[in-house]
Amino acid sequence: AQVPVNVTVTGAAGQIGYALLFRIASGQLLGPDTPVRLRLLEIPKAVKAAEGTAMELDDCAFPLLHGIDIFDDPRQAFEGANVALLVGARPRTEGMERGDLLEANGGIFKPQGEAINAGAADDIRVLVVGNPANTNALIAQAHAPDVPAERFTAMTRLDHNRAVSQLAGKLGVQVTEISKLTIWGNHSATQYPDIFHAEVAGKNAAEAVNDEGWLRDTFIPTVAKRGAAIIKARGASSAASAANAAIDHVRDWVLGTPEGDWTSAAIVSDGSYGVPEGLISSFPVVSREGRWEIVQGLEIDAFSRERIDASVRELGEERDAVRALGLI
Ligand code: NAI
Repeated sequence: AQVPVNVTVTGAAGQIGYALLFRIASGQLLGPDTPVRLRLLEIPKAVKAAEGTAMELDDCAFPLLHGIDIFDDPRQAFEGANVALLVGARPRTEGMERGDLLEANGGIFKPQGEAINAGAADDIRVLVVGNPANTNALIAQAHAPDVPAERFTAMTRLDHNRAVSQLAGKLGVQVTEISKLTIWGNHSATQYPDIFHAEVAGKNAAEAVNDEGWLRDTFIPTVAKRGAAIIKARGASSAASAANAAIDHVRDWVLGTPEGDWTSAAIVSDGSYGVPEGLISSFPVVSREGRWEIVQGLEIDAFSRERIDASVRELGEERDAVRALGLI
């Protein structure tokens, strides 16, 4: 029998947590042959709610679920963790400046980075979902000097999946016909969904669309502002789709991306495509043998260059801000 994989989930009692945990426990994260043990981290006042979710997980009698432990202490929650999904974060509230937001999140992601450094398993893989995700990942990474930097990633897979769906809708094809789409930069309004290298049924997608106005004025803003549109319609932020994207990200990271395609993930830059080394930025990526690799050699035209640079500039500003606050 396989040894269970320890999956730590923070913000477990939140709405993404609720959509995520059942899918992990059912085997959708790591496949049907891999048992999991859940380690849930919450703040003290939400531990009770996490216990309620754990009762429901018990009630599913998932064959692959080998245990659930609930903590309010990051040191304990990350002990032995093989996969860590950092979902809990401090949201921006009315009147909060960027500096306040970064500082509040520093108070969460610094101790979590330290706890990962101290106690996680050697093969630890970290996905940060909680916003501002790229910079929260940078903060956690900075406090885990013994963990290889590339093990800290941030989620742009929801943006990627949204872009695939929008493009398929425009072209009147199934999502399975779309490949090689890319989200570049920050998981924020500046992100750039790039269809210039994307393919639809093997042909170039930008040529198939052949409509720069749609690309500029509809597609890019629709993808970038989709989160706000969901809030407006649903009265609550994206949760099941965010959980789904987190599952996609980790599953592809561990099990590999399909041949002939790539996906998008925010990973530490090695300087590729002019993105300053060390920033955690979204790239076109494949996963081979459990490691993300940036797809190389794509030609970037002026339209794309301008947009990638703008989003990467924002990432640099966020990094400078957390540096100035002493958080990294
Ligand atoms: P939520 O507010 O429903 O849940 C967040 C949970 O985190 C709460 O239960 C809270 O008690 C917990 N939490 C707060 N601080 C914590 C800490 N220090 N340790 C452990 N748990 C802590 O929020 P929701 O909807 O689940 O979203 C979570 C995060 O995901 C937000 O930051 C949101 O902006 C982000 N998000 C990111 C997306 C992406 O594409 N990267 C997409 C959608 C949401």
